[in-house]
Amino acid sequence: MVIAIDGPAGSGKSTVAKRIAGILGYAFLNSGSFYRGITLLALRNAINPTDEQALTALAKSLSIEYAHSCLVINGEDVEDKLHSDAVDAQVSAVSAVVPLRRIVNEKIRAVTESQNVVCEGRDMTTTVFPDADYKFYLDASIDVQATRRYQQGVSNLTLEEIKETIRARDESDKNKAEGSLKIASDATYIDTSGLTVDKVCAIIIDLII
Ligand code: DC
Repeated sequence: MVIAIDGPAGSGKSTVAKRIAGILGYAFLNSGSFYRGITLLALRNAINPTDEQALTALAKSLSIEYAHSCLVINGEDVEDKLHSDAVDAQVSAVSAVVPLRRIVNEKIRAVTESQNVVCEGRDMTTTVFPDADYKFYLDASIDVQATRRYQQGVSNLTLEEIKETIRARDESDKNKAEGSLKIASDATYIDTSGLTVDKVCAIIIDLII
C-alpha cells in the first residue's frame, strides 16, 4: 500500500505524513531528505550546485539508506543536518538534475517494495508512484508556509527572508524538467492554511478507511 502526498514547502506534508503513518502503522518516507542529503554532501565536497555531472557522480557514489525515517549516508546518520539554511538554499537546484532524480527515485521505490508506506515530496503522486493507492496534494498560503518554517526555529533568517526563499524554491520546484511540483488530476487537494494537523489527518484518514 502506498499513500502519496505532495505539496510545496511548509504545506504541512511531513508532519501530516508522519502522523498518518503512525496511525496506520505504516513506514514514513520523506523523499526531500534524499535530495537534502545529497545537497549536504555536495556542500561538504564543494561541488557547485550547477555542476550536473559532478552531482550525478556524487549521487552514484554514495551509499544511501533510509531506515526508521532517518537518512544514513555512507554510514552517517545525517537527519539532523538536513534543514540548515545552506541546504535549503541549494536543494532545489540539486534536485533539478534529471539523472540524479532517477537515482533517487530508484532508491525510494526500493524502500516501498517490502512495506506499506506513506511517502511525501513533490512528485510522489505523479512520477514516482503514479499508481499510488491514495493521493493527496497539501497546499498553504505563503504567509502560513513561512510562519511554519520560522517556528521550526532552525533558520537564522527573518520571517520576510524566509518568505522570499520559500517563494523562490517553490517557483523553481514547479518548473523542473522532470519531477516538477504539480497537482495530480486524481489527487485530493487540501488547503491546510487554516486547519490544524489533527483536522488534516482526520480528512485523510476518513478518505482512506
Ligand atoms: O520537502 P522538502 O522541503 O524537504 O524538499 C527539499 C527539496 O527537495 C525541495 O525544494 C524540492 C526537492 N524535492 C523534489 O524535487 N522531489 C521530491 N519528491 C521531494 C523533494
